[in-house]
Amino acid sequence: MRADFLPATFFTGATGFLGQFVLRDLLVRGHRIVALVRGSLSDATVRLRNLLLPIGVDINEYIEQGQLRLVDGALPDSLPEGDLGPIDSVINCAASIQLFSNGNGDPFKTNVAGTQAMIDWVERRGIRRIFAVSTAYTCGWNSGVIREEFHHPEPKFQTDYERSKWIAECLLQEWSARSGNVLTVFRPSFLIGDSKSGYTTQFGGFYQFARLVSVLKQQFSHNGNGDRTYIPLRIPGRPEDRQNIVPVDYVARMIAEVVLRPEFQGRIYHLTNPEPPTNDLMKRCYEDYFGLHGGYFADPDEVVGKCSKAESLLWDRYELITPRVVHTPHFDVRNAREVAAAIGLEFPVLDKQRIFTMFDYAAAHRWGRGTDGFHG
Ligand SMILES: NC(=O)c1ccc[n+]([C@@H]2O[C@H](COP(=O)([O-])OP(=O)(O)OC[C@H]3O[C@@H](n4cnc5c(N)ncnc54)[C@H](OP(=O)(O)O)[C@@H]3O)[C@@H](O)[C@H]2O)c1
Repeated sequence: MRADFLPATFFTGATGFLGQFVLRDLLVRGHRIVALVRGSLSDATVRLRNLLLPIGVDINEYIEQGQLRLVDGALPDSLPEGDLGPIDSVINCAASIQLFSNGNGDPFKTNVAGTQAMIDWVERRGIRRIFAVSTAYTCGWNSGVIREEFHHPEPKFQTDYERSKWIAECLLQEWSARSGNVLTVFRPSFLIGDSKSGYTTQFGGFYQFARLVSVLKQQFSHNGNGDRTYIPLRIPGRPEDRQNIVPVDYVARMIAEVVLRPEFQGRIYHLTNPEPPTNDLMKRCYEDYFGLHGGYFADPDEVVGKCSKAESLLWDRYELITPRVVHTPHFDVRNAREVAAAIGLEFPVLDKQRIFTMFDYAAAHRWGRGTDGFHG
């Protein structure tokens, strides 16, 4: 059968960090995609091609074969209304990852109004399967074990972004309660680069912090203090606590597998790190990679707002990390583990070598200066 006769999946957010990897993984598995892109089609085609070439796919080949079609539009107001051929599912990966409202309508416009527009669109077309990319942090400040379930009552949130994604999940949950509708929700934690190459197009959070450590090293190293610069400073947090970061290729592969296998659909998946690096491991990574020592863990209440010069560089300019230093929920991954076991996918554990691969890639790309940052 020709590719353009197979039902396709309508895909939003293909030009995003996660979307590129999911699109790649679905295309190479022969899945047919109609991708929504913003801006003129010719510009978006060039942009998407340039994004996917470094991760091993030339989209022009798939466009020529009829396996990939790009359509222009945007959430929430301009979804395509014409004939797109048979479409049997939607992957909504587009989102505004702006953390706080600033008068431009986002993150609520894209994430809440956009999700509602997507739901109305599938209803008009009689589509019964939605794959929604959410975030692990729809749990807000909830602590302890976070299950792969909807969170009710409404948690307290750290950012507007988290709240917007939680409201979007509520809209989708309501849609999924109607007979015949199948909703799958993917909840990644903080995405970092490809586990093998370190490749990333997003340099927020994890990378911003590593860059600050490199600045710290530069500012405090001087002739005579050797390869390992001694910089005494307090690190807010406990050595055994963990920050949940997850490589983008793992998350994308899991999403693609679930999209391709109906038996795994209709659930919520925590696409999080089952064994996140401890603060202590991260400290050792920074010390060994950048060549410094002298940091020690301390109670966040004693550090934040009462910083020495060296501490200020890390903690003042990085206020967005501090809530996560004291909030380290444990994400239950039962559903995700079942899929990983069925497909024989081992989680790429973030050991020192993999973390160094991330640093190497980011350092070679100037820590993404000139691109936007994100920690959420
Ligand atoms: N990055 C993370 O650490 C992380 C963690 C947890 C969950 N997530 C979730 O994962 C998904 C992908 O995130 P990401 O990090 O890949 O984000 P990203 O790199 O910022 O990409 C966002 C994508 O959404 C598109 N988009 C944004 N607003 C849109 C609108 N109004 N209409 C249509 N398209 C729009 C963007 O298109 P343009 O290219 O045209 O801007 C881009 O393709 C999101 O749902 C996000 O909430 C991300």
